Amino acid sequence: MIYLTSLVLCTVAYRFSPFHPLAAYPGPILWRSSSMILAIVSSSGYRHLILNDLHKKHGTFVRIGPDVLSVNSSQAISVIYGPKMLKGDAYTSPGRTGDVALFFQQDPTIHAKRKVLWTNALTRSALREYYAPMVKRTDQLVKCVEGRLNQAGEVDLGACIMHWAFDVMGDVIFGGCGNDLELMRDGDPHGLVNIGKKSEAGLDIFGNIPWLMDILWHLSESEALNLRRLQRVCGSMMRTRLRNKNVQQRDFTSYLLEPDIDAGDRPSSSDLELEALVAVQGGNDNPGSQLIMAMFFLIAHQPVLRTLQAKLDAAFPDPTETLDARALAIPYLDAVINETFRLSSPWFLPRVVPPGGVCVNGRSIPKGTIVALASYSQHVSEENFFPDPLSYRPERWLPGGLGPGSILNKSVVTTFTSGPHGCPGRGFAIQQMRHVIARLVLAFDLTLSPSLSPGMFLKGFRNIRSHMFDLPLIVKVVRRRGTSL
Ligand code: HEM
Repeated sequence: MIYLTSLVLCTVAYRFSPFHPLAAYPGPILWRSSSMILAIVSSSGYRHLILNDLHKKHGTFVRIGPDVLSVNSSQAISVIYGPKMLKGDAYTSPGRTGDVALFFQQDPTIHAKRKVLWTNALTRSALREYYAPMVKRTDQLVKCVEGRLNQAGEVDLGACIMHWAFDVMGDVIFGGCGNDLELMRDGDPHGLVNIGKKSEAGLDIFGNIPWLMDILWHLSESEALNLRRLQRVCGSMMRTRLRNKNVQQRDFTSYLLEPDIDAGDRPSSSDLELEALVAVQGGNDNPGSQLIMAMFFLIAHQPVLRTLQAKLDAAFPDPTETLDARALAIPYLDAVINETFRLSSPWFLPRVVPPGGVCVNGRSIPKGTIVALASYSQHVSEENFFPDPLSYRPERWLPGGLGPGSILNKSVVTTFTSGPHGCPGRGFAIQQMRHVIARLVLAFDLTLSPSLSPGMFLKGFRNIRSHMFDLPLIVKVVRRRGTSL
């Protein structure tokens, strides 16, 4: 006991001492004692706002843990998310089974090989294979929205969108035969959307204290751990898919199974089950959440919604036709999406400094330090977006921006991050977002329920890797004439 107490005291004393390699970096003093403080702050969902305040007070670099630095600088992005940096224990795969799945892979060589498979499954030609099922599901979304309207003509649009996102990934990953889960049809009786969100939040919070995550995982065989439940569901969907040899459409799994990819890394069955977890969760939660934010911003800004509706009406005179992917590359629609990304991706994605250290903004950071960009601070900085960086103004993304003197620094928006660990689903996500926003805006006139104020909704928007919505997005929906699908 005495030994343990002295060990803890010496460790904490060292973290506060001038001999610690990060001693010169400013930051809230108590946070230096333990990563537990960052874990608690992360669990609030308001870490991005708290970090923003800390950067205003302390400057570009803020020490927010014994070995953790938050960096608020556009020049730092290419280093922090560059090829040298590593994924640390925050990305440890559940249970450390040794199975390989892209998101959880920390070894750069194995990660790079697996990334080849993922990239091959998300090329432009692969996206063409996934377009038809996505279009079918989006038509079903329009019917789902109408089918769930209450007597006041209102619906929880957020829930409809998350259920759409889950159903789309079921079709795209497993060719529609991995499961009989139909969330738009049946709702979500097992709470899968919530389980997915809580799993991501768990990874984010315990990623700050990975040893505790390990202990919890091994202590609890039960389904109490959301991540374990999600892993079981996704693993079972993948097993069903692998048993079914007669997949009617080319799906994501068939790309992972391709024998002739030059990666020398054909996934084992247990790898595939873990990849199913990554693909289902990565492929539904982020697109669904970003779509909810996009629709919220549009509906809360009726002039923007009307302008978009007019542009879409002009591009698609017959609103019941299938929306061609190329015709959806409409600058105003993309401006709406980009402005959503800017305001809705307040990530804090940790990377570990490799042996030899790195130099960020002229300062050398020692090996083993955990570094992350304060993305929200970059996304709302006046140096990058001017005027009104905190306001939703899609026009800033169009030629001419917000008028003389306006600033648009696109390169700092890290919604999909970049470098070797950047999101492979970017192209697919943008294709989906263009399609769903266009379909909903062509089909409906939408206003916020009088019971929901924009301020209340935004206050209840938190981020713990996954977007958490404390309030449902309740919307009043009126079908536009001539738009029956
Ligand atoms: C708007 C939608 C999306 C957003 C905002 C988004 C964002 C991101 C971000 C920020 C990361 C880096 C996470 C980290 O380093 O911790 C990431 C990684 C990843 N995303 Fe996405 N994503 C989206 C859609 C998708 C889709 C549709 C898929 C699958 C089809 C996908 C699969 C992945 C995977 C597998 C990784 C891990 C990449 C790696 O480790 O190399 N994402 N995504």
